[in-house]
Amino acid sequence: MRKPTLLVVDDQPANIQVLHQIFKADHEVYMATSGEQALAFCASQLPDLILLDVIMPGMSGHQVCSQLKSDVRTRDIPVIFVTGHSNPKDETEGLRLGAVDFIPKPVNASIVRARVHVQLMLRQSLRQVQDLNETLEERVEQRTSELQQALLELRQSQDDLAHSEARATLSTLIASVSHELGTPLGNGRMVASTLAQQTQAMVQELRSGQLKRSALDAYVGQVSDGVGLLERNLERAVELLGNFRQVAADQASEQRRVFSLSTVVGEILHSLSPSLKHQPHRIEVDIADDIVMDSQPGALGQIIINLVNNAYLHAFEGRAHGVLTIGAQLDADQVTLTVADNGIGMSPELLDKLFEPFFSTKIGKGGTGLGMAIVQNLVSKALGGRVSVVSTMAQGTRFELVFPRVLPG
Ligand SMILES: Nc1ncnc2c1ncn2[C@@H]1O[C@H](COP(=O)(O)OP(=O)(O)OP(=O)(O)O)[C@@H](O)[C@H]1O
Ligand SMILES: [Mg+2]
Repeated sequence: MRKPTLLVVDDQPANIQVLHQIFKADHEVYMATSGEQALAFCASQLPDLILLDVIMPGMSGHQVCSQLKSDVRTRDIPVIFVTGHSNPKDETEGLRLGAVDFIPKPVNASIVRARVHVQLMLRQSLRQVQDLNETLEERVEQRTSELQQALLELRQSQDDLAHSEARATLSTLIASVSHELGTPLGNGRMVASTLAQQTQAMVQELRSGQLKRSALDAYVGQVSDGVGLLERNLERAVELLGNFRQVAADQASEQRRVFSLSTVVGEILHSLSPSLKHQPHRIEVDIADDIVMDSQPGALGQIIINLVNNAYLHAFEGRAHGVLTIGAQLDADQVTLTVADNGIGMSPELLDKLFEPFFSTKIGKGGTGLGMAIVQNLVSKALGGRVSVVSTMAQGTRFELVFPRVLPG
């Protein structure tokens, strides 16, 4: 820390000597024996404070003070008058000229130290405030642009996440559909190989010329059962694949197309059914058949998947018979899609944070807290609509999505 600098101005060297003694230990003390000398000193160097005698030959203390106060360079230097006699008129004049304090002669060491200290502290605080003010605007500007940049990055990463979420959903779909396809294809293979064995046996009997009528009847019966079984299993496989293909194509693309709302919702739920069917809950769908959309089915699918997953994961946690109701209505070319569960509901505090990215009550237990942020993003960006929610603790949660039947643009 640099020592504060004082300028002591007095025509009497003895008076200067006294003040020098008082301050020399912890101040840098400069001296001037006339007003002219004091001003010359200030022209080259700015002291932190001036102790100024009032009555001096040549320039008076008052003249020196008014000169200092009229110069922008020196006007902020605090001036304390050291007065020989207490004269209210003089003091008033001194104040008018901008002095900050008066000290009577002969000076008392502790009083003069205390007053000088106060003024130096004030001056230092003032300087800090001024410095702060000067940099404040700059800092606000810099902060604002940093925040704007951060916001931009956040939006970007939210979009990226929506994409990666779509990819993740796709790979979950692929996994569950390939698993699901295993059953009908395995059944089919078993039926086919049983049929092959039975046919082989039949051929041998035929060649040996010992074929009995009853054996032929039995064989025909087995073949037609087997073929029926084969057909049903293959149909199931084709159906699974067909659903999957459409959902996958919608997920993978951001294309808009014309589609039936009830069909697409049905396909999505169907593709989710392998992972949901082992749960004791059910989904009721009430969507009019004739709502024909021209919009982005991939986004719609993602939204429904996230809401259904949340109902099963959060709302129905620990419940035996959850019911999720999905309904839709068309009114003046606006679609209102509702997804309502009769689950645990949400507290007002939870509801406040629901759409915040990374907010999850299952962090570390499989939740990333992005599901609802993505829902909100997709409803507004991809479907051109908005989402609202009402929830009652212990009764359930109802999401309402309103979006145009035909996406504008
Ligand atoms: N239908 C619901 N009923 C009750 N609570 C819910 C429901 N939907 C969401 N929540 C609460 O809101 C939180 C945020 O949901 P969100 O889908 O954003 O994240 P998450 O499901 O925890 O994680 P993920 O990113 O895997 O979806 C959940 O952690 C849960 O506490
Ligand atoms: Mg979720």
